[in-house]
Amino acid sequence: MASRRFFGSNEPDDYFSWDDLPEPDLQVDVTTTREWDALTEAFEDVRGLHLRALMALDGRREAMTCEVGDLYLDFTRHRATPVLLDALVAVAERAGVAERRDAMFSGEHINSTEDRAVGHVALRCPESARFSIDDDDVVPEVHRVLAAMADLTERVHSGDWVGATGEPIRTIINVGIGGSDLGPEMAYRALRRYRRDGLECRFVSNVDPAGIAAAIDGADPATTLVVVVSKTFTTDETLTNAHTLKEWIRAGVAPPAGGDDGTNGDDPIGEDEAVDDDNDGPDDEAWVAQHFVAVSTNAEAVAAFGIDVDNMFRFWDWVGGRYSVWSAVGLSLMLAVGEDHFRQMLAGGHEVDEHFRTQPLRQNAPVLTGLLRVLYRDLYGFPTHAVLPYAADLGRFPAYLQQLDMESNGKRVRLDGSPATLRTGAIVWGQPGTNGQHAFYQLLHQGTSIVPVDLIAFSESADDSGDHQRKLLANALAQGRALAEGRSADEAIEAGVPEAQVAHRTFPGNRPSTTILAGELTPGVLGQLIALYEHSVFTQGAIWGINSFDQWGVELGKELAADVLEELESDEAQDAPEGAARWVLDHPHD
Ligand code: F6P
Repeated sequence: MASRRFFGSNEPDDYFSWDDLPEPDLQVDVTTTREWDALTEAFEDVRGLHLRALMALDGRREAMTCEVGDLYLDFTRHRATPVLLDALVAVAERAGVAERRDAMFSGEHINSTEDRAVGHVALRCPESARFSIDDDDVVPEVHRVLAAMADLTERVHSGDWVGATGEPIRTIINVGIGGSDLGPEMAYRALRRYRRDGLECRFVSNVDPAGIAAAIDGADPATTLVVVVSKTFTTDETLTNAHTLKEWIRAGVAPPAGGDDGTNGDDPIGEDEAVDDDNDGPDDEAWVAQHFVAVSTNAEAVAAFGIDVDNMFRFWDWVGGRYSVWSAVGLSLMLAVGEDHFRQMLAGGHEVDEHFRTQPLRQNAPVLTGLLRVLYRDLYGFPTHAVLPYAADLGRFPAYLQQLDMESNGKRVRLDGSPATLRTGAIVWGQPGTNGQHAFYQLLHQGTSIVPVDLIAFSESADDSGDHQRKLLANALAQGRALAEGRSADEAIEAGVPEAQVAHRTFPGNRPSTTILAGELTPGVLGQLIALYEHSVFTQGAIWGINSFDQWGVELGKELAADVLEELESDEAQDAPEGAARWVLDHPHD
């Protein structure tokens, strides 16, 4: 076990005596500790203070800002003081955040309910690093898969990889859901400026027929490569979509029965005899293999689907779905933006990992963001948290974070199965500003719920030759100020607001925000942002003593969906329950 002093060397020594503390117990219920009592006392000193007063305090800027990689984090608009932050850090120490982090970086099975290591940080290790999981250094294998992804990328970009009719690939369809969709889709959108011309990526996740219809709309099966992404390769939505795409590809590239084989004669797969007349034999699978690759941990299921396991990109059970964009799950992204940009994203993630792993908790950006989330969730009692990127290219970032955060920390029991003693994961939501400003910000400014927000903004944009970016940035900064300071009735009157409107045009302020700034949305910065949030989620989960790496809560709905489907399709349907299912049965679709 690592020395506590090493990671927590900035602890306020006068707060308590380190020597009195027992070795950290990773299952400690922090609410029973004196650090928690000290936190609640420090909180009582602050809770009644308005952000205007807090922001006027000396030394706040130095004590409440932080830098990691290219990110600058401004915590000054939080309803906290440096002393309250110190108390939060003391709770983090007592909860064993540093020890739990070290356990993750040591490859221990901290995902206890699934008895798995949590190794997504290994995915962004440089080749020279070691990362041991179950006594194996996994870094060489990680880099082997990255090299295979790069090889496919190169073959697709150069036109060396061709479809069954000999044409190069122009469309990638990524089939996957949850972590097998949100990460690559979010990053594909975020890295719009880095995409390669002439290659389009589409993403289909939902089993909704509209999803698959949109994915194939206007695409040519002959020039389409389908990337089926599923850790388990059992996810119903993904397999349903993949089978539909298989039929679509087959119909598009297979020859008419008994006739010409439909190719341009190049015989790209080297086996003209692979084409049979009835298009339903195993030979047809050879055709499909030219248009399908898989990303999975389950080689058997991939082979059963008909995808050549040579075209399967592996990842490992120690990578959680929502932490997997760094792995082969990011294959569509690498195909779109190229190997170099993908590796820059990994390097950005690694930079934040190193910061998280080595910096004292009091200067540790992901730890501080996580602790502030705990402050709002558990002490102030605010139920939601909004992520507001001032970058249209980060349009899917809030949705990505919803899975990362809510699937990780939406838990009601602690690691030992006992009930959680604190309110756990907040509801995460958001969308880009300034659009949000003209929609839901009314509630943020004047509603009866207080929503802490993250404002993510950039000083530069390579798209901009005018004043768009400055205006966008000014809006982000202004929102933080308006939320914090508000406008008093006196100020409203002074500004000329008619008396009858004063109550309506008064802003209470005192609404907290973190401002996260960077120069430009590059692949490296994107990697830094994702890792920042990952480790913030980790910190929160460690304080709450929950398992942030399982997701049992998604299972019941899946099981019942299978039961309901059976009910809807069976003769016993007449016994189906009242209500919505009854209505469906009474309105048969054919
Ligand atoms: O149902 C939830 C979930 O298991 C997520 O955790 C995961 O990211 C998603 O489904 C997809 O799973 P798979 O990659 O195994 O298809």
